[in-house]
Amino acid sequence: MVGPQNVHHTGGAVSHVDTTPSEERRGAFTSRRVFILAAIGSAVGLGNIWRFPYVAYENGGGAFILPYLVALLTAGIPFLLLDYALGHRNRGSAPLSFARQSRGTEGLGWWQVGICFMIAVYYAAVLAWAVRYTLFSFTEAWGDDAEAYFFGEFLQVGDPGVTMDFVAGVVFPLALVWLALIVVLVLGVQRGIGAMSMIFIPILIVAFAVLVIYALTLDGAGEGLNTLFTPNWDALSEPGVWAAAYGQIFFSLSIGFGIMITYASYVRRGTDMPGSGLVVGFSNSGFELLAGIGVFAALGFMAQASGVQVSEVASSGVGLAFIAFPTIISEAPLGAFLGVLFFGSLVIAGFTSLVSVIEVVISAVRDKFEMTRRGATLAVSIPAAIVSLIFLGTTSGLYVLDIVDNFINKFGILLVAVVSMVVLAYAVRALPSLAEALNDHTSVHVGAWWRALIAVVAPIALAYVLIRDFLDTLEEPYGGYPEWMLAVFGWGAAGIVIVFGFLAALVPWRPGTSLEVPDLPPTRPGPDRTDRSRPDEEVR
Ligand code: PHE
Repeated sequence: MVGPQNVHHTGGAVSHVDTTPSEERRGAFTSRRVFILAAIGSAVGLGNIWRFPYVAYENGGGAFILPYLVALLTAGIPFLLLDYALGHRNRGSAPLSFARQSRGTEGLGWWQVGICFMIAVYYAAVLAWAVRYTLFSFTEAWGDDAEAYFFGEFLQVGDPGVTMDFVAGVVFPLALVWLALIVVLVLGVQRGIGAMSMIFIPILIVAFAVLVIYALTLDGAGEGLNTLFTPNWDALSEPGVWAAAYGQIFFSLSIGFGIMITYASYVRRGTDMPGSGLVVGFSNSGFELLAGIGVFAALGFMAQASGVQVSEVASSGVGLAFIAFPTIISEAPLGAFLGVLFFGSLVIAGFTSLVSVIEVVISAVRDKFEMTRRGATLAVSIPAAIVSLIFLGTTSGLYVLDIVDNFINKFGILLVAVVSMVVLAYAVRALPSLAEALNDHTSVHVGAWWRALIAVVAPIALAYVLIRDFLDTLEEPYGGYPEWMLAVFGWGAAGIVIVFGFLAALVPWRPGTSLEVPDLPPTRPGPDRTDRSRPDEEVR
């Protein structure tokens, strides 16, 4: 409820300019450190642990570092700063931030909200599996055929199609994951997301570091690292390798999802955003490198134990986490210990990312409609949980997940990123005001280089990746699934979020929403500019 009590929370701060009640009720991070931890929590996810190592290995190994760094510096960090600028300047959820930046662009924000909803629905399932596998590690429940166990006994995967045969072993942990998400999200920005990040991120880093050190002591670890790092310089002349680097950076930094817009909107004015972006960007990449070392050391051990080449056991995604790792856990000394560290890390890394995608939706719903945080959290999470249980709790869940994931990443996230860069740079010419907002307080001045990267280099690079992906998909239907499944869960999912974006932008904002930017920086000296002595507390 919004009421006069908000005014007390912020004391004098309310007195100046446009600080509308909606500003006060949104919640905020208490410090820059909390924001950075939350942003790292979002960025470090399954993408770092199960995607990066294989992408690097496949695309030039040690030589991949070059395109990867180029992608990070020319598109990743610049776009991260664009997201920060949008949210921090406009102080709103993704749609409200776009609307405040320029009225006509609101739909882009809703498009991102739609993407986040879809991602939440299936990402939660992977988490549920990881929760089960953390427990399985103690008894090595998968026996001596991890692959047969995962597809058979555990997921009970049938033929491609959609079934309503629920799998109790998935439904139960999945419901639990949703319950935990609801608890954190109801607690709000600082007491929920902020506090969770302050506890979980240090635990994740320590647990993962122990895992990597342990993996390095395994026989064959060296061979694994050689396989990952031996550079294949010829790869650098292949466009596909560069495309892979840009794709990885985008997914891994959680940019283009609306997440960073939302989180940045909870950071108070006068915070150094560009400096924070560098910290987040490099921490995320550091974690990726660490994951590459840990994963390939373990794969090296697996290859040696079964007398094959590392290249034969290298994999990513579901295959790496739920087939290769269980096998490694069974063969390694102290297997249960390794298992708990690995699956526990997946759970924590995934959970902090999942919280961030759902927050995008909750924040947008709260900005649009008059709702308490608790009401909005339930209004978003319960339908998402139900869809999640229906589509992913059944024997056909794995197929749905695989298709939606592939299409939403390519024709959702990458597409909305390119479109928003072009719109912001050329249609509404927002870059000068965004750069100005970034430079309000900064340790790294954002100059013409940034605008050039956002307006020219990054969109060209991403458009190229996108067109390649598009042509590949046309040429060879993804994963050999039946056409109708690709039409519904692939193109359908990617398309419906666009339609949703446009329609949602037609719905009026709740009364009292100002589309003026609240409390805009342009330096106004004097007591008005002092930071709030205490953060806004969210009004439930
Ligand atoms: N950066 C995240 C990752 O690496 C991407 C992501 C964020 C995925 C939020 C899902 C939800 O996994």
